[in-house]
Amino acid sequence: MSVLEIRNLHATVEGNGILKGVNLTLRSGEIHALMGPNGSGKSTLAYVIAGHPHYEVTEGDILIDGESILEMEADERTKAGLFLAFQYPVAVPGVSVANFLRTAVSNVRGYTEKATNGNGANNGHSGVIGSNLMPMREFRRELNDKMKEYNVDPSFARRYLNDGFSGGEKKRTEVLQMAMLEPRFAILDESDSGLDIDALRVVSDGINKLATEDRGFLMITHYSRILNYVRPHFVSIFYGGRIVKTGGMELALLLEEKGYGWVEQEFGTVTA
Ligand SMILES: Nc1ncnc2c1ncn2[C@@H]1O[C@H](COP(=O)(O)OP(=O)(O)O)[C@@H](O)[C@H]1O
Ligand SMILES: [Mg+2]
Repeated sequence: MSVLEIRNLHATVEGNGILKGVNLTLRSGEIHALMGPNGSGKSTLAYVIAGHPHYEVTEGDILIDGESILEMEADERTKAGLFLAFQYPVAVPGVSVANFLRTAVSNVRGYTEKATNGNGANNGHSGVIGSNLMPMREFRRELNDKMKEYNVDPSFARRYLNDGFSGGEKKRTEVLQMAMLEPRFAILDESDSGLDIDALRVVSDGINKLATEDRGFLMITHYSRILNYVRPHFVSIFYGGRIVKTGGMELALLLEEKGYGWVEQEFGTVTA
């Protein structure tokens, strides 16, 4: 059992206060949906949790099992079991999906340390290809199995990451990444945006398969559509840089029916 805790989190980007006291507890086995209007700071929250250097935490804390992760770099947070699927995944021409995943998996599973002599210095094999990566055959076998399991076409392994991918292909690739990295906490930012109904099904099936007892999900979404496929235990409304209300699926349905206008009326005056 793991716990991700966000305590009174305040954060700025380029001097502008965006997060204004976010409180959220996510336990393994839970799916927590975070719904809010555009510009309310949802993606900012995701970036701050992931450790994006552009964002500055000015107050509050983020903890995994009681330990603050604020001082950790983004890759250390990944190692600690955090996974973030971005709203706008960037294309990386020149880096294949397979190579990207092999590097990421090797980092998370500690192959990088295994190639050093223990005091931080390299044992002389630095720069030797394969010295700090998961063995190719082992990796390939696992990648093929997971591609089959999560309905990703095998040709994707050779394609450049997100380069010319459709919205649905990007999101499927993220599910594959999650399946390979096996994070303790996954934060999915608008995983449903730009998906047609078939792609939404595939992506939702993947998330449901990965939503096991030992993993927590924070599903950031503007629309309640995906929540009809991936059922949340909790739904929180995010507005003005903080959570203003938490409940169950009925909140998502209320937003579906009434939109976000009433949220602004009820919680409109937010001060830092
Ligand atoms: N790099 C940035 N520089 C300045 N302002 C930003 C930056 N990124 C986001 N913001 C501002 O932060 C607010 C929240 O944005 P965002 O977190 O993307 O909201 P959401 O994901 O809920 O739509 C917006 O007003 C946006 O303009
Ligand atoms: Mg966003």
